[in-house]
Amino acid sequence: MSKRIKIFDTTLRDGEQSPGGSMNIEEKLAVARQLARLKVDVIEAGFPISSPGDFEAVKLVAQQVKGPAIAGLCRATRGDIDRAWEALQYAKKPRIHTFIATSDIHLQHKLKKSREEVLDAAVAAVKYAKSYCEDIEFSAEDAVRSDFDYLCQVVEAVIAAGATTVNIPDTVGYAIPTEFGKLIANLIKKVPNIKACTLSAHCHNDLGLSVANSLAAVQAGAGQVECTINGIGERAGNAALEEIVMALNTRPDIFGKTTGINTKEIYRSSRLVSDLTGLVVQANKAIVGRNAFAHEAGIHQHGVLQEKRTYEIMDAQAIGLSESQLVLGKHSGRHAFEARLRELGIQLTKDDLDKAFTRFKEVADKKKEVFDEDLEAIVADEVHSIPEAYHLEYMNVMASLEGVPTATIRLKSGDGELLDAGIGVGSVDAVYKTIDKLVDVPHELIDYTVKSVTGGTDALGEVTVKLGNDGNIYTGRGASLDIIEASAKAYIQALNKLVYYKAKRKNSSGAPSKVIL
Ligand code: KIV
Ligand code: ZN
Repeated sequence: MSKRIKIFDTTLRDGEQSPGGSMNIEEKLAVARQLARLKVDVIEAGFPISSPGDFEAVKLVAQQVKGPAIAGLCRATRGDIDRAWEALQYAKKPRIHTFIATSDIHLQHKLKKSREEVLDAAVAAVKYAKSYCEDIEFSAEDAVRSDFDYLCQVVEAVIAAGATTVNIPDTVGYAIPTEFGKLIANLIKKVPNIKACTLSAHCHNDLGLSVANSLAAVQAGAGQVECTINGIGERAGNAALEEIVMALNTRPDIFGKTTGINTKEIYRSSRLVSDLTGLVVQANKAIVGRNAFAHEAGIHQHGVLQEKRTYEIMDAQAIGLSESQLVLGKHSGRHAFEARLRELGIQLTKDDLDKAFTRFKEVADKKKEVFDEDLEAIVADEVHSIPEAYHLEYMNVMASLEGVPTATIRLKSGDGELLDAGIGVGSVDAVYKTIDKLVDVPHELIDYTVKSVTGGTDALGEVTVKLGNDGNIYTGRGASLDIIEASAKAYIQALNKLVYYKAKRKNSSGAPSKVIL
């Protein structure tokens, strides 16, 4: 049994199925690049036949992201497999991931097929996929609720057909750790050719047990776990990559297993996925939540100051949080600002640094302490890697208890100016309705979230906006001490992305080339 557990990341496929968590192609590419820095073994980049956008994303990731194997999901049909290969063929290490359900409940109600028919389809799919590449993964969807003997039969047959990885999904998050561990152990015991493949676990979190089940699978002999950054995914999500990896790292005495993950990239990966999807990480989330390494209680603080290990089982630095808790303020100079950004792994051009520093000074003048999270938000807000079709120049919003919220807005667009006023049911609504009057860009508002970057009423507010157009989604973010201003900036950034990427796609007839967000 190998000591090394493979990490198969499905943030871009299963994770992206989170309600409200979809990303556009360029955002998926940015996540894939970060997953490569994190050093996952496999990136599942999408489900190519499911939509043209998914197809393009898988193709782009296959063309541009080096390091991990790149997987694309497909049902057990030739059409799906052909389409997946069309996108995956550019990868240095392509993996075709084909699946079919094996539980009677899925066979009867969804597939309307007999067990024999499903077995044949599974074998035929693996054989057909094998004609394209060597690395083939087969998933027995709803394996946990499948008849065990039948599951053994399918697993044995797909391995004989050439599957190099066999994945055992708990599709509906139904399993309990002891039960799931036993299932993996029994498959290893009963399937005669099991050693010819890597056995994998894929757990959903409906009962909050996905990480526990994945770890039970590792203890029972699984060689791969499938997971997502921040545990995002359909319904209650998938197993969280950061929790699995840090459990294996923190308890070598129990697991005796390693991964290839560069844990110092965990925090950055978490922030990127949260920023791009707009799915906020809960403050008390294990490993990457804002409070995960914070000690409020005096007795804890005292203990940690004496000896870290009294109350800390992991080093914050291990996941890429910076060592010093240096807080900047209005007296901090450019040198300290620049040094702090460098420690946070943020590198800017001179122009961008100038812009970010000017903004930092404005914020520091109004806010006593500027934390790392504030710096990251300032940089994200100030540094635009795409041209601004619209720039917010002036905004005046009036709201009172009994009155009608009103916004007056002036935007700069090219060499001209656009000015108008409008009303809404609230201040943000008035701002957005007014902007809509000014810009000639068809779109729909898909999602709007607001969060405070740190604590206190003087905290920076960070707004994420998703706009839809032609089946694509454009995410904008804005940060400000005033949430109405942050809301306006986020909306305008999303509109700017829409204008830019739409034009870019038109010029390159569908496939965006290298894009840096
Ligand atoms: O949950 C599941 O069963 C899946 C498979 C398609 C791998 O996501
Ligand atoms: Zn799944």
